[in-house]
Amino acid sequence: MPRIAYVNGRYVRHADAAVHIEDRGYQFADGVYEVCEISGGFIMDMTRHLDRLDRSLRELKIDWPLHRRALEFVMREVVRRNGVRDGLVYLQVTRGVAPRDHAFPPPGIRPALVVTAKRVAPHIAAMRAESGVKVITVPENRWERVDIKTVGLLPNVLAKQKAREEGAAEAWFVDNEGFVTEGSSTNAWIVTADGKLVTRPAELGILRGVTRTTLMDVAAKLNLDVQERAFLVEEAKGAREAFITSATSVVTPVVEIDGQTVANGRPGSVALSLRQAFFDVAEKLPAC
Ligand code: PDD
Repeated sequence: MPRIAYVNGRYVRHADAAVHIEDRGYQFADGVYEVCEISGGFIMDMTRHLDRLDRSLRELKIDWPLHRRALEFVMREVVRRNGVRDGLVYLQVTRGVAPRDHAFPPPGIRPALVVTAKRVAPHIAAMRAESGVKVITVPENRWERVDIKTVGLLPNVLAKQKAREEGAAEAWFVDNEGFVTEGSSTNAWIVTADGKLVTRPAELGILRGVTRTTLMDVAAKLNLDVQERAFLVEEAKGAREAFITSATSVVTPVVEIDGQTVANGRPGSVALSLRQAFFDVAEKLPAC
């Protein structure tokens, strides 16, 4: 079965899918995106992802490329055409195609939409969760509007590459005062000695992760307290547990930070029980 992508109104072979060279996403990173997990034939938390897409588009004054219902249909159709039961669906909206000019193009230029889906074997993420991952820290060097899920991700790319080169799975950005903001593509959490979950408030300095939001519901179900406050790298190193969340990693324990072992260096029980309960609590809509 060849991979199929949706590009501006057409379903095309993934290998042939292309956007115009003057697409503003390509030229200025003038666009936004979402990634939804597909698990066991369900799209997870689609409503929250599309609510966040709506916010990102409004913040950047980009119109919806299609009605929301139509976009949901396209996402399902791309998943169906690619036969994905476990994996992810990616969507990207840019301000459209126009002669290069930093200012917005004249009215009437339609936003561009790309939707792709890919299979990811579920055991890969499960194995990472069972062994736990290493993170490194890097200085925060992103713009202030990281609350918008834009495709402008160069600092994130460089941070993730540095992590890879150092044998780690993720890089945590650290602000001027030593507080962790978030990972290059994940939110950061710790568990305190008395079992409280701590994650940075989403008002400033991070993306409000959909997995992060749903995990608050999971924590409530498991009677775990969540404190939304910033935490220092040092606190994380000395924490009972640490973990990361995202649509692609769900909940993945962190067992090492900058070469220093977290607790006994094994995934913590709180993170693993949150991971287990996640699927039951998250919204699940049939993927096709
Ligand atoms: N990344 N923070 C950043 C900077 C992210 O890029 C992401 C998601 C998250 C977690 O958000 P969510 O729980 O909604 O996935 C936090 C996606 C998965 C990516 O870029 O591939």
